[in-house]
Amino acid sequence: MATTPCRFGSRRDFLKAAGCLTTGALFHHRLAWAQGSKLKIGLMLPYTGTYAALGNAITNGFKLAVAERGGKLGGRELEYFTVDDESDPSKAPENTNKLVQRDKVDVLVGTVHSGVALGMVKIARETGTLLIIPNAGAAAATGELCAPNIFRTSFTNWQTGYPMGKVVADRGLKNIVTITWKYAAGEESVGGFSEGLSKAGGKVVKELWVPFPQVEFQALLTQIGSLKPDAVYTFFAGAGAVKFVKDYAAAGLKGKIPLFGSGFLTDGVLEAQGEAAHGLETTLHYGDGIETPRNKSFREAYSKAYKGEPDVYAVQGYDTGLLLAAGLEAVRGDVNKKSELVAALEKAHIDSPRGAWTLSKAHNPIQDIYLRKVVGTQNKVSGVAHKALEDPARGCSMKKT
Ligand code: BEZ
Repeated sequence: MATTPCRFGSRRDFLKAAGCLTTGALFHHRLAWAQGSKLKIGLMLPYTGTYAALGNAITNGFKLAVAERGGKLGGRELEYFTVDDESDPSKAPENTNKLVQRDKVDVLVGTVHSGVALGMVKIARETGTLLIIPNAGAAAATGELCAPNIFRTSFTNWQTGYPMGKVVADRGLKNIVTITWKYAAGEESVGGFSEGLSKAGGKVVKELWVPFPQVEFQALLTQIGSLKPDAVYTFFAGAGAVKFVKDYAAAGLKGKIPLFGSGFLTDGVLEAQGEAAHGLETTLHYGDGIETPRNKSFREAYSKAYKGEPDVYAVQGYDTGLLLAAGLEAVRGDVNKKSELVAALEKAHIDSPRGAWTLSKAHNPIQDIYLRKVVGTQNKVSGVAHKALEDPARGCSMKKT
């Protein structure tokens, strides 16, 4: 009897799951599963370089959610396959294929960098493998490249930049300079900010760019000093954010030209930034000081498990575990029930430390975006900059499962 392997998403045609296993193969697979085969999770994240801390926090958060469920999701134990993607888009297809073709993972979880994520999206679309993106905000993943097997538990770059445009303009700060890395995350964050700003009557007067992952800011900071804008908006994250905030202060700009950003500028990096970050205001879907029992219990559990404070990346990793748990519980761990699994993921209500969220039709969170201010070593929430913000998902036409 012919056997066409049909793990979750092992075929391009994810939508036509029903016919792709012969009865014998199906029986064999079900038997293996019933006998307790482990669910294979491919973690593709940065564990070295500028975004290494982000990859580690996501991993910790994901594993915490699993540990809280006794080490099982949908009744199945997990086996991890890990790849360091180095935040290098050129290696993304090959790295993703190692997990899909060599390790035969059931689920892909990754990644941080938007360019790398788009490489993963390409392979996920070709092979039908379930992909959950726990950070990268690239618009295309839930926009023109959206697909039934691609989900995101974090944000789009637009989503975290757009609300800050109005916050800044409403303060009478109308002429803004932007500075960021020249790749999708920086471009889309500035794009969102600029859209919100112009709707509220302001404008971006100059865009400054730095190649990723370079951190030589001096010449551009001198330029900002002579342009004298009303304010500066920026996207930097990880080690780059530490260097930028310190350099901004060292250049004598702090206190003279207000600096705003998406919250990645100050999340997970406040200890390293020290005094230079004090008072900075950012917009993000999380804040350290969210005073809810849910956030408090998460923070306690995370600190106990990892001896450190969680940040937005840890929350996103944790929520990836919650989303996958919701899906797998609905199908009792049987990843071959593809359309049921997708339906369960799509209608999940995630009780997150950030606040409850659901997924849009394009599979991206609809969520509150907070205004935060750095107080001591915390990103304190000072208000909600935009309630239940949904990414416009431009170009997404989702086929039904
Ligand atoms: C991105 O590449 O999409 C990204 C990286 C770090 C923080 C936020 C977004």
